[in-house]
Amino acid sequence: MLIAGNWKMYKGASEAAEFCARLRDRESELEGTDVVVCPPYTSLHHSVAVLAGTSIAVFAQNVHWATEGPYTGEVSAPMLRELGVTGAIVAHSERRQLFAETDETSALRVEGALEGGLSVIACVGETEDEREAGETESVLRRQVEALRTVVDEDHLDRLALAYEPVWAIGTGRTAAPEQAEEAHELIKSILDAPVLYGGSVKPDNASELLSQRNVDGALVGGASLELDSFIEICRAGATA
Ligand code: PGA
Repeated sequence: MLIAGNWKMYKGASEAAEFCARLRDRESELEGTDVVVCPPYTSLHHSVAVLAGTSIAVFAQNVHWATEGPYTGEVSAPMLRELGVTGAIVAHSERRQLFAETDETSALRVEGALEGGLSVIACVGETEDEREAGETESVLRRQVEALRTVVDEDHLDRLALAYEPVWAIGTGRTAAPEQAEEAHELIKSILDAPVLYGGSVKPDNASELLSQRNVDGALVGGASLELDSFIEICRAGATA
């Protein structure tokens, strides 16, 4: 079970270091779960330093496909690895919706990150309009197919997908466990990798979601920003 905290654009360097120190002090409570935190770029160095020697991994929230080049505002896999960052989220719906990330650029990023030695959490998920129009399956198929074509079999052990229905992100509305299970089963039938659920995961709904057969972990936004709720979700992962 993998529980990843996506901090989005929250927690600058000193706040991140302080949070990681408190998380480190409670590492024994995380036993039985693989735990990842995903701070903003400027907080990565501090987070890696504080969590060194623990089993808690630090991932970035995005990564470019090239190793270097004229890409203003972007960061590459070798640059992240030099810091001690071991993975990255790719294609989060906020990147797709607000920053013009497409299936094509998402696939390039996943490919570049895996080739660059990083682990990847690649996000897919339908919008509310798409679900209401009965397009959930076709959207997921399109998004996952785009990733499948670029993933080298040898790198599969470093890839996880995250099913994040856009209508459930930051809204307090989670997918019903059966809806998540159905989507995860579909995703795995196209690309055989662990699939995390994301979208308003909280301490009080984590156990039910995580106990679904094809739910292999969670990508947690809001509830990962507060230590007690994040640890509670990690513990739900250990017992699910
Ligand atoms: P949320 O965010 O848990 O706040 O809904 C999840 C995500 O965006 O990864």
